[in-house]
Amino acid sequence: MNVMAGQMEFRGEIDTVVNPSEKAFFSVRDIHAWYGESYIVQGVSFEVKKGEVLSLLGRNGAGKTSTLRTLARASNPVLKSGEIWLDGQPVHKMKAFQAAQAGIQLVPEDRRIIGGLTVEENLVLAQVSGQKGWTIEKIYDHFPRLAERRNQEAVTMSGGEQQMLAVARALARDLKILFLDEPYEGLAPVIVQEIEKIVHQIRDLGITTIIVEQNAVAALRLSDRAVIMDTGEVVFSGTAKEVLENEQLRHDYLAI
Ligand SMILES: Nc1ncnc2c1ncn2[C@@H]1O[C@H](COP(=O)(O)OP(=O)(O)OP(=O)(O)O)[C@@H](O)[C@H]1O
Ligand SMILES: [Mg+2]
Repeated sequence: MNVMAGQMEFRGEIDTVVNPSEKAFFSVRDIHAWYGESYIVQGVSFEVKKGEVLSLLGRNGAGKTSTLRTLARASNPVLKSGEIWLDGQPVHKMKAFQAAQAGIQLVPEDRRIIGGLTVEENLVLAQVSGQKGWTIEKIYDHFPRLAERRNQEAVTMSGGEQQMLAVARALARDLKILFLDEPYEGLAPVIVQEIEKIVHQIRDLGITTIIVEQNAVAALRLSDRAVIMDTGEVVFSGTAKEVLENEQLRHDYLAI
């Protein structure tokens, strides 16, 4: 889809689009963001369709986390220009709490599990802040491991279980698009497989997701499309299959 068509869909009546899966559900248009004097996100544009999983890849320091933070409207880096649209809503005009209310949920690398609280308390707290998403019961149905551990202090769980809880907390909120920043980070291969299953489940539920991962092969396996960044810019945008089949691209930007 070209950019013009994407814009027309946004300005037009979204409900009249014949095939809803074809419309750009989430659209990032030439965003530029700064940490103080440091110019980091340098004109990033891409689109994600509803229900699609997009891998955002690139070397260390390429600007992936900074891009996710910009899209979630974190206070840093500061978005200086460009537009971010989610399902017709101008996210670029929002603050972080408004973006969260609009349905953007970022699971950061450090997972932000709240110390001193049980698993269930972490989930309940995710619900009080905004509109409700999944009920606690629905979460326990999908994540039996969390149900078993509902009364355990959350920070005492394994890394994989904590990642599971972080994703579950996002589902407990009113979720329209999920950003996962390195969900497999620091996990043993067997646990990575477990988290992969959860991300597959999320994809099968039709939840639109952007996944940033050092483990590019694992991320690409479950992605429809991929965007590769280098030094704050998009250097490739295409299908996951194109990346896997392009040795040069993999060698130049992904070291795989
Ligand atoms: N708070 C900050 N203040 C200043 N510069 C920052 C800040 N956070 C990140 N940067 C810089 O922005 C650039 C992009 O960093 P970012 O964390 O977005 O990269 P990344 O692609 O997520 O890397 P990694 O794969 O290592 O997580 C880096 O040069 C980094 O040093
Ligand atoms: Mg990062």
